[in-house]
Amino acid sequence: MPPHTIAPSSSISLFDERVLADPYPTYAALRATGPAVHLERHGVWAVPGYAEVQAVLQDPDTFTSMGGVALTEQANTGFLADSVVSRDGEEHARLRQALARRMGPRAISKLREELSARARRLVAEHAESGSFDAVALSRQMVCDTIGHLVGLAEPEHTTLLGGTFDVFGPDNDRLSQALPEAAAMRAALVRAISRDAVDPGSLAGAAYAAADRGRLTEAEAVGLVCDYAAASVDTTVFGLAETIARLAMDPVQWTRLRKDPNRAEAAFHEALRLDAPIQGRGRIVSRTTDLSGVRIEAGEHVWLLYGSTGRDERKWSRAETYDLARPFVDRHLALGAGAHQCPGVSLALMQARCLLRALAHRCTHLELVGDPVRALHNTVRGHSSVPVAVETSPYAGDATAPGATLRRPR
Ligand code: HEM
Repeated sequence: MPPHTIAPSSSISLFDERVLADPYPTYAALRATGPAVHLERHGVWAVPGYAEVQAVLQDPDTFTSMGGVALTEQANTGFLADSVVSRDGEEHARLRQALARRMGPRAISKLREELSARARRLVAEHAESGSFDAVALSRQMVCDTIGHLVGLAEPEHTTLLGGTFDVFGPDNDRLSQALPEAAAMRAALVRAISRDAVDPGSLAGAAYAAADRGRLTEAEAVGLVCDYAAASVDTTVFGLAETIARLAMDPVQWTRLRKDPNRAEAAFHEALRLDAPIQGRGRIVSRTTDLSGVRIEAGEHVWLLYGSTGRDERKWSRAETYDLARPFVDRHLALGAGAHQCPGVSLALMQARCLLRALAHRCTHLELVGDPVRALHNTVRGHSSVPVAVETSPYAGDATAPGATLRRPR
């Protein structure tokens, strides 16, 4: 691509409430402005296109995480400084390796029965009255799953998990509120995962075992479990609730899922592509580089717009359409890529598969019964409420089976 003689720039603010509520026109404008666009208000280079974000993620030596994953120095050098997201190179690989087997596809596939039973029970409970909130259902599924995985005692699942992503954002009220909350939650989590309190078979148990083998320090083991717990909840809840909302608004895709529940993962991937739960993350440019013709100097801060990449027309045909039959449906960047790609992919997908299959089996009809309520956050996107109504089959098995009877919503 020919070099840009004038560096593309923009005065837009990514974090105004209007933009947070619907960022997609802003993202489209940024993609039309350039492959990297200097955002005057935030002092970072926004990277809005699929190809460029992928290139950045595949080059962690040039685009480093330390000191740059969040927008503010306060968060980068404070709360996030020791976390796995902020590490680079061998130190990062060592931390990732410590829990890699525990989070990999083989270990997660062993949880299938447990998660499937939980999903069937929760769907039956929530759908019984004929209407429910998809966010509440998703949160219960995720908090119970993560609570068990991490090794937390039962009543602490919902109180200790979720809600730290505003710390990645700009210096605004959301950041001021999030920093002390995130610190308090982390302190409570650290107390809850003390060595004597957790099951050796849990994720915390695996981290302590890695410390015993000398692969991690004790502090790193505790920090790593907190990082995994904090990263795992709101992301998955938002992704699951978004999927249910999209299926509730689209009878064609809902019928497609009911006819072939094996499309549950595709239903989830499409929702992640269209509304990435993590909308943006930063990196620091370690050496002067060229990003599709835009020169970015060493020391500059780039802001990767995952949320924009899923709508990039240069990558996706009919980018705005939710389509369970889309080819290469999992090629979106909502789960990251490269060295920092989400280590919770297998777990998130397993939860989606179990919950959406349970929904498709149990519910013969699904529709929205009110406007979903958007939760406005600095760098994550999701709803605080998605009210749906369902018609259910009393049979726990395949509701498409002949003879299944319907119960209408009350
Ligand atoms: C739908 C659900 C999820 C989404 C959309 C998601 C998204 C992401 C993304 C985009 C990144 C990369 C951030 C970057 O490039 O800096 C990431 C990293 C991470 N995720 Fe997830 N995630 C999800 C679920 C989970 C789960 C279930 C876990 C753990 C059980 C988890 C743990 C982590 C951790 C620890 C990192 C940091 C990895 C690193 O920096 O090396 N995530 N996630």
